[in-house]
Amino acid sequence: MTLGKHLDYFYDFVLMHQGNTSMLWPRRIISGYKSLLCYTLKGSKALPVTNVLGKYHGSRSDKRFHQWGQEIHSAHYYIDVFSREGDLVVDYFLGGGTFAEVCKRLNRNFVGFEIDHEVYEGALSRLDGALGPNEKGRQYGMELI
Ligand SMILES: C[S@@+](CC[C@H](N)C(=O)[O-])C[C@H]1O[C@@H](n2cnc3c(N)ncnc32)[C@H](O)[C@@H]1O
Repeated sequence: MTLGKHLDYFYDFVLMHQGNTSMLWPRRIISGYKSLLCYTLKGSKALPVTNVLGKYHGSRSDKRFHQWGQEIHSAHYYIDVFSREGDLVVDYFLGGGTFAEVCKRLNRNFVGFEIDHEVYEGALSRLDGALGPNEKGRQYGMELI
């Protein structure tokens, strides 16, 4: 696996969906969970901040901010167990800004990337602040790319 060239495999965590399952139409799979592949820097002895559930039960889906939005409780759980206050969290697929909001609540630094301008604006409006969109985005470490 290409990732394995640069990183060490740590674990494959399972996030159970609550309520509705989701359908992966192209592959005819009725999925009841998300798989979270976890890697560490090569040679690192890093561990989670505390004991982590291999299988976590998320709450009901939340599509208020994005059609594929992650519900906030599981994002909160994983950020809490894998990082400390002041750490940097990077989200390459910002979407509705779920991880940005959690990072703000938990005092993590945050960098997010989003390719879709409208979606980016939606994530910005989710977060508090009276600044204009660009300044507000940079305040949260987000950049429209
Ligand atoms: C599944 S959604 C993320 C949902 C997010 N976790 C939430 O809770 O709202 C994926 C997002 O990644 C964006 N995206 C897709 N390809 C991208 C790329 N190459 N660079 C940056 N963003 C990208 C999409 O526009 C979409 O908003």
